[in-house]
Amino acid sequence: MSDTIYVLVTGANRGIGRATVAAMLDERDDTHVFLGSRDAARGEEARDAIDDEHPGAASRIEVVQLDVTDDESVQRAAETIETTIGDESLYGLVNNAGIGDRNADLRQVLDVNVRGPRRVCEACLPLLDRSDGRIVNVSSAAGPNFVNECEAEHRDFLTDDEVTWKAIESFMAECLEAADEAGDFESTGVGDGRAYGLSKALLNTYTMYLARNHSDLTINACTPGFIETGMTRPMAERRGKDPEELGMKPPEEGTTAQMFLLFGDPEGSGWYFGSDAERSPLDRYRAPGDPPYTGD
Ligand SMILES: NC(=O)c1ccc[n+]([C@@H]2O[C@H](COP(=O)([O-])OP(=O)(O)OC[C@H]3O[C@@H](n4cnc5c(N)ncnc54)[C@H](OP(=O)(O)O)[C@@H]3O)[C@@H](O)[C@H]2O)c1
Repeated sequence: MSDTIYVLVTGANRGIGRATVAAMLDERDDTHVFLGSRDAARGEEARDAIDDEHPGAASRIEVVQLDVTDDESVQRAAETIETTIGDESLYGLVNNAGIGDRNADLRQVLDVNVRGPRRVCEACLPLLDRSDGRIVNVSSAAGPNFVNECEAEHRDFLTDDEVTWKAIESFMAECLEAADEAGDFESTGVGDGRAYGLSKALLNTYTMYLARNHSDLTINACTPGFIETGMTRPMAERRGKDPEELGMKPPEEGTTAQMFLLFGDPEGSGWYFGSDAERSPLDRYRAPGDPPYTGD
């Protein structure tokens, strides 16, 4: 590992991504963070805000325009990173960018939450440190909750550690076709009918696939927990409740698992972790503080 630890975080202009950048800069003085933002100006604003809270941090932040649904943008971001790091390696990649399913259809949700991390991984894999590099895919408990509601065939597929990307592609195509026929994904009866849950279940499946194919990297997925952000705040507003009353925590408390998977010593690769940084199963919910999943 070089003296400077280079890490890319996608969707880092707000919410959990921004908090993850701040945590990395605050807890380690050897980090240089590429703050991915699909809108460069929003990325600059986030950098300034982090600098206000952590004076001097801006000199260790480089904003990179990065829309995870846009091949060219992803490629350009990887080239920018390559230029900055020169002969050194990218230590970490945090695939944090994501969208919910309230205002987006299945196609969009899969494009951002599943194909997005895949695009960024493909572009960044050649840059990653092959002795100790890390990829962290920010998933959600909605994934295991979705799998839990699946019929056996789908559950077996989504938890298959021999899965291939081609099979993941086919599964997404089948779900899209079924949703087109039924009018929406909810009416297909697959899993719990949530596009977001399907996307995060597939992100966990993809994480297994990626880890199996890159055994020289440590690649895991995690949920950040139930965190008050632009994604979840509307949920509280709809219910007329305070986010805290619903159990949402501030973004600063949504980085524990990501920080552990980046800088700690996870025992495995291709696993999914809860917000308490302990391993969780892919097919059912494990609450933070409950005994870790042992793989049985
Ligand atoms: N909040 C929770 O309770 C919770 C729970 C479980 C998992 N998660 C996961 O945590 C991650 C972060 O979510 P959050 O709660 O912090 O939500 P958020 O505040 O809505 O932030 C989402 C981030 O993703 C970015 N993004 C969306 N589409 C993008 C695209 N096409 N390309 C690049 N960036 C894109 C957004 O950029 P713009 O500002 O440009 O829109 C924003 O920076 C997501 O993967 C989410 O699924 C959150």
